[in-house]
This record gives sequence, C-alpha cells and structure tokens, in this order.
Amino acid sequence: MRYVDSFRSIQRICSFSVVVSIALVRSTSAIAAPTILLDRATQGMVVSAHPLATQAGLSMLQQGGNAVDAAVATTFAISVVEPFSAGLGGGGFLLMYQAKSNEIKALDFRERAPLNATKTMYLDNQGNVRPNASTNGYLAVATPGTIAGLYEVHRKYGRLPWKTVIAPAIQLAETGLPVSWRFVSATKTRLPTLLKNPDAQKIFTHNGKTYQIGERLVQPELAATLRSVSQNPQDFYTGTIATAIAADMAANSGLITQKDLQQYRPTWRDPVCGDFRKARVCSMPPPSSGGVHLLQILNIIGDTDLKTLGWHSPDALHLLIESMRIAYADRATYLGDPDFIKVPVKALISPVYAQKRRQEINPQKATPSSQVKAVDPAVLQRLTKESVETSHLTVVDRDRNAVSLTFTVNLGFGAGVVAKGTGIVLNNEMDDFAIAPNTPNAFGLVGGTANAIAPNKIPLSSMTPTIITENGRLRLAVGSPGGSTIITTVLQIVLNVLVYEMDVRKAVAAPRVHHQWLPDRLNVESWGLDTLTIADLKRRGHQIEERPSWGNANAIVVMPDGSLEGAADPRGEGAASGF
Ligand code: DON
Repeated sequence: MRYVDSFRSIQRICSFSVVVSIALVRSTSAIAAPTILLDRATQGMVVSAHPLATQAGLSMLQQGGNAVDAAVATTFAISVVEPFSAGLGGGGFLLMYQAKSNEIKALDFRERAPLNATKTMYLDNQGNVRPNASTNGYLAVATPGTIAGLYEVHRKYGRLPWKTVIAPAIQLAETGLPVSWRFVSATKTRLPTLLKNPDAQKIFTHNGKTYQIGERLVQPELAATLRSVSQNPQDFYTGTIATAIAADMAANSGLITQKDLQQYRPTWRDPVCGDFRKARVCSMPPPSSGGVHLLQILNIIGDTDLKTLGWHSPDALHLLIESMRIAYADRATYLGDPDFIKVPVKALISPVYAQKRRQEINPQKATPSSQVKAVDPAVLQRLTKESVETSHLTVVDRDRNAVSLTFTVNLGFGAGVVAKGTGIVLNNEMDDFAIAPNTPNAFGLVGGTANAIAPNKIPLSSMTPTIITENGRLRLAVGSPGGSTIITTVLQIVLNVLVYEMDVRKAVAAPRVHHQWLPDRLNVESWGLDTLTIADLKRRGHQIEERPSWGNANAIVVMPDGSLEGAADPRGEGAASGF
C-alpha cells in the first residue's frame, strides 16, 4: 500500500506534461531571458528540470564561468524554483569530468542519519513499523548536505566568485516565480503533511489552500537564508541557520542537533567505471547503488547485439528486464554506506560475475523474483580478491568539462517540514534506509543489515549521475530523478544513445520499462509498448503493470563534430539551453 501510494505521488511529481516553459521564462523579470532556448550549441550547455534554473546556470557560462560554476548556480536555483523536489535541506551526488586530464571525480553530499538515530527508531514497542514515521515530520529528517557539497566543489574547482553563483537563486526567491502544474500537484499530494507545519503552510499554501497554476510564489525567508549562505557558507552548519534548525528540531522531537550540523562533511569518492563497447561509463559509487547496478546491468547485456534484436523487441526487453531483476536482488543484500559495511563493488561490477548471472537468464521465460537471489557471498569472494522527488542537472562548458548532478529532499516536499524562519524544506531521506528487514520503503525497495540505520550513516540511494567518455573525450552526461526507477531510466537512455544511436531528445523521451526484483512486476509506461509486445512478455511470465510516466531525466551529448545537443525530459517541464 505504502509503495503504491508513493509511486503515485512520484508519478505526479515527475509525470508527463506539455507545459511550454519558455512562457515562464518570459514572464519573469528576475533573469534576462532569451526568446529561444538553444538545445544545440557549441560553447556550452545547461539542462535542468526548470527553465529558470537552466537560465541561471547558462548565465554563469556566459559570464566566463566553468561547468562547476554553472552547476552550482543551477542547483541553488532549483532549490528555489522546485522546493518540493530538491534543495538546501536535502543532499545529493555530483560527478564531474575534467577534459584536460580526462579525469572523473565524484562528490558525495548525501544526508546522514543524525547522531541520535537508532536502528529501531521507526518501530513501536511491539517491533511494528510506525506508519509514516520515516516519511512525514521531523523524525524523518537526515542531516542535510547540499550547501556543504556545493561549497566544497566550488571552492576547489569554481572560477566565478561564490556570491555570483548564488545571486540568481536569491533573486528568484525574492522576486518570485509563477508556479507550474508540478508545484501545484506536489502541494496537493502532500497537503495534509504540509498543513501540520506552520512555516510550510505559510509559504506553500494560501491559508491552507493550494496555489493555482500561474500564481506567484515568493520566498522571503529562503532569500534571507541564501543571502547569509552567500556571505558565509558555514552559517548553515555552525551559524545562525544551524541554531534555527537545531532549535526547531528540539521543539518538535526531531533528532538533528547543532553537533550533527557542525560535523557534517561532504566526501570525495572514486567513481565506479566500466567499459561498455567503445564507451567508458562512470557513475556514482556507494552510498548510491546507481553506478554499481548501471554497470552490472550493462555487463550482463554484454556484447548481445541489441540493435539487431530491435529496439523494444520482446527478446531485447526480456534480457533487459531479467538483468534489472538480478541487479536489484543484489542491491537489497549488498548495498549500503561503504563507511559502515563492506560493499563488494569490484565483484558486482566485474564482467566475469555478469557472465555468470547472464547464464541464469532463461531467454524465453521470466524467472520469478522468489527464485532470483542475491549472489552467494562465497561466490563473490571467489570472483574477486577485493579488500574490500529529486532533480537532475547536466552542464557542459566550452572546454568540454562536464557536471552531472542529482540532488533531492526525497519525496515531494521531503518530510513536509520547513525549519522555522529559514524557508528551508527538510528532507525525509531516513526513509531510504531499510527501516526494518524486508519492509519496503516508499519506492517499494527492500533491504537488510547493509542498509540498516546507524548514527551518522548515509541511507542507500539510487541516484545515478553518469558521465560517459569515448576515446578519452566526453560523449554523454545524463541523470534522472525517480527513486528506485532512476537506475533503469539512466540505463535505457544510455542504451538509446550508445546502442540504438538515437538523438538525445528521442533517447530521453522514449518510453521506459522498469523492474526492481521486488515487487515482482514489470512497470511499463502507458502507451510505452504495443499490444503484441505486451502479449509476448506476458507469455514469458512477466507480470505487467502499466503506469503513467516516471522520471524527469536530462542529458547532453557531444556530437562527432564536437557540438553539443541537450534534452530535458518531456515528462517534466525542464529545459536545455546553450550558446
Ligand atoms: O536517493 C534516492 O534514491 C531517493 N531518495 C531519490 C528520490 C527521488 O528520486 C524522488 N523522485 N521523484
């Protein structure tokens, strides 16, 4: 029930729309807007989930900033224009490509469990899960990482002043923006929770009534918070904002204290990388499961000639679905925060292991998930001697440096809590932990010990910011929101570009399928597959459930002539814009 309800809310947040967002750009005076957004360009490009945020990033590139400046400005702007999906009260992951050295770096600024968190904090005395405790209200909030992450990457790699990259977000918060269907539908979905929090109610509703599409949302408290951060980024972790958050937490039985904020640090990690045909695919390592399972599925597909099988042919789809099923089975057992448990990354992304799992796939019949298990630890050991609502944005600059960044407050409006006086929507990322063994989270994902709650631990994520190079040159940067569906969304876009050679707009727009082992069902986008294909998959034993669209991906491709093509998902209201 929990899964079904939240899957619906995700669909509402990330679902299909034909809103023409250029109108929004023209109707605000906050940022100078071009009349045409160029989704093919040569100098640089930004793609994000909102045209005003895209514009904020693009203006940095046009002022001589690099991909990091543009990504930071876009991220701050998204926090203002999509407060329901990602923001200062959440966290995320960033992948960056440095053209000069052909190097990829990964920054983890994901939220952490508060120091006072316990393994059983969402269970009652009988050991039963307390409904909604990990999704709604103060107890659901994990220590945010967004500002620490943005400051860290900017401090090391940004070119423009810190104040410059925050300026567009401040302006958007102060002057406001007309709200779109996505804002309105997110508020409707989360209204009962938002109404329980005085600041959330005050900012995101008119005395408890939802906004109408096109009404102006002004966020003066958030503007003031952003101003303090622009003067001193530490204010969020050790200054007045930290004090405000900790006081609000204490007054409402939340767990985050000044100490949690004070000790938060983002972490540079080695990306996970692997070869797929001519391409080098790099993505986010644990504590995200995204990169590991993207590579695992690509490895299982291996050298199968998908193109000859035909795009969305039953044989190609069957292989894809069965590979997804295997990967998500491993995810539930092995993935978690690598600072707390040993994640067998090397084994899981090894082509030898993938070949072994590939042999288990019956080409004609779906194997029920009850018979698909995570790999036996002994086999893993033999294979390797190893010691061991969300928003995505993509930026490529003039030098072909790239940033692929996904960040989130988890479900729509996070925990439904705005820290008093700050305008900051706080996340409900604690729900990404396995709050009890085999209890599905909001995305239906299950887990065990590897992803159990512990103080200061990072909840397992599916966010999959990805960068692909070919012959030492940038080829594709891509990512998406969508909870558990993120990995399979990114996978299908990668295959659409690399194998089927679709142009990037088509690759992002094409219908998707999704399987995550449990529940044992194949999600097919409405109008995604034709009747004969569906009948064929059913004959093979797939339990199919059609659903409205999911995901809100975006991507930039470097064309053979070196020019850029970008695409924002038509399921959302985002925009690609270059110059
Ligand atoms: O980290 C994760 O996997 C989730 N918290 C992402 C949530 C999300 O994508 C919500 N999207 N619509």
